[in-house]
Amino acid sequence: MTNRLKDKVALIIGGARGIGGGIARRFAQAGASVALADLQETAGAELAEDIGGLYLHADISRAEDAERAVAETIERFGRLDILVQNAGIYPWTLIEQTSPEEWDRVMKVNLGGCFLAARAALPQMKKQRSGRMLFTSSITGPHVTSPGHGHYSASKAGINGFIRAAALEFAGYGITVNGVEPGNILTEGMKAHRSPDFIRDMAEAVPLGRLGTPEDVANAFLFLASDEAAYITGTTIVVDGGQLLPEGGDFRIMPE
Ligand SMILES: NC(=O)c1ccc[n+]([C@@H]2O[C@H](COP(=O)([O-])OP(=O)(O)OC[C@H]3O[C@@H](n4cnc5c(N)ncnc54)[C@H](O)[C@@H]3O)[C@@H](O)[C@H]2O)c1
Repeated sequence: MTNRLKDKVALIIGGARGIGGGIARRFAQAGASVALADLQETAGAELAEDIGGLYLHADISRAEDAERAVAETIERFGRLDILVQNAGIYPWTLIEQTSPEEWDRVMKVNLGGCFLAARAALPQMKKQRSGRMLFTSSITGPHVTSPGHGHYSASKAGINGFIRAAALEFAGYGITVNGVEPGNILTEGMKAHRSPDFIRDMAEAVPLGRLGTPEDVANAFLFLASDEAAYITGTTIVVDGGQLLPEGGDFRIMPE
């Protein structure tokens, strides 16, 4: 794991905890200089100190915050090789009860945040004639969904479309654009928003028999950020323990 990102500079948005925190730790272990931008100051500053990185306060739904996070990363580390836009929110509200304000907030953070982050990072990566843009999508939206996830599903399906368009537009500058689609990952956000019963039932629906960890997802990000992924662009990797596979409910074959 060590040195796969040696001499690389990474900015991870939504990097204070959960999946983003896992990415920040994994990238730092792999030798990258890491800036993490997040709304949460205490958790962000503590993690940054832990991994020898830089914490930046930012709300990725705001264009000026995205631009400032990129500018401060470059000011501190001199360049920007890897952008990860992982910040996302997942309120659980039926479409009938979703206010236009809640719809807009989910879209602005989850999908608008990807556009604003890419827009802010593009000038530096163009100048360098290289870069990796990485986005946290989800299996929810592109493949599956559940009641209460109208806005969230639309935002995550939108991210996959944005990844393809950006990959095509930026390819000539040596910039690749990819994403990761996590299944159900046990994070602080998941614990705050989902009941213990939901979490237990979900683990039973996963062929590998458990929810994912932030490290499971971070390993896919590490691959996409590494030199080994140089020829991969415009695509996503599913990290879901096989959750998308079963055609029906009774799928378990118990080992002998
Ligand atoms: N946990 C899962 O099961 C799961 C599954 C699929 C996709 N995802 C996606 O993974 C990402 C992270 O999820 P998580 O479970 O780790 O969540 P989390 O709530 O544990 O962590 C999300 C982080 O993003 C930050 N953030 C939220 N809004 C922000 C904003 N406007 N600007 C800057 N930072 C902001 C939060 O402060 C937090 O530190 C999200 O995009 C989520 O949609 C999660």
